[in-house]
Amino acid sequence: MSEQAQVTGVVTTRPLSDALGAEVRGVDLRNLSAEQNQKILDAWHENLVVLIRNQTLSEEDQVRFGKLFGGGALSSGHIPALERVEGLVYVTNVKQPDRPDGILPDGEMQFHSDQCYRDHPSKGTMLYAIEIPSEGGNTLFANTYKSYEALPEAVKQKIEGLRALNVYDYGVNPTRCGQPNADAPSHVHPVVRTHPVTRRKSLFVNRLMTARIEGMPKEESDALLDYLFAYQERPEFIYSHRWQVGDVLIWDNRCALHARTDFDSKQRRVMRRITLPAEAVE
Ligand code: OGA
Ligand code: MN
Repeated sequence: MSEQAQVTGVVTTRPLSDALGAEVRGVDLRNLSAEQNQKILDAWHENLVVLIRNQTLSEEDQVRFGKLFGGGALSSGHIPALERVEGLVYVTNVKQPDRPDGILPDGEMQFHSDQCYRDHPSKGTMLYAIEIPSEGGNTLFANTYKSYEALPEAVKQKIEGLRALNVYDYGVNPTRCGQPNADAPSHVHPVVRTHPVTRRKSLFVNRLMTARIEGMPKEESDALLDYLFAYQERPEFIYSHRWQVGDVLIWDNRCALHARTDFDSKQRRVMRRITLPAEAVE
């Protein structure tokens, strides 16, 4: 951020990749004007992922910023006892006596959309980087508008109106290879989803949590899902984020998937997360 930008409050954006993402520069998230807030929201709807670097946020600052995205209460969807303040949890491999443990397993995670196993999934998620490993632990983002749009017309027609079961069962991964745990949280959602703000269609299935397409024999469902996952995970639709301490990054769960690359479990990784409010799926 240049001195000039700080002084005049000029907000600039730059693309993060051809696939998706924009960096917004010239803002201090502790102290945003209504106009700056609107610019961040517009950049988010247009680019699916927004990055703001070099921030210093307390837990309360981060919650306050999370609420600027609108909607109801912030809720991580995880064990309420792990929430420090409303909707705020840590994603970390570091145990600290004064802090609840992190919510996710360590290491690599496959592509997914947060809370897709709920009736009303979260519209987006924010991570704030506090400590990062020297290498690995990148977060990958896949643009599922683009993968939908790239499908052959015949496939678009075939999947229109189909619904898929999404299951939260990290013990069986990928879910389709085993019998998901009967009491694991799950929900059926449309395979092709319409974004409530942009009205664009995207491909709302993912390798980590989508178990099967409703009303389709297992073999056919597995083959169709594998085909769709391969489209979603084409390199040209993916941005890999290499974290810096002080990064704040917000992704849209309605039109982007995310994944994480492996990292050395002996290295510290501390991210602070806000889960944006839940929404009905169209
Ligand atoms: C999450 C998540 C990925 C990461 O917080 O939902 O998937 O890079 N995090 O920690
Ligand atoms: Mn996630």
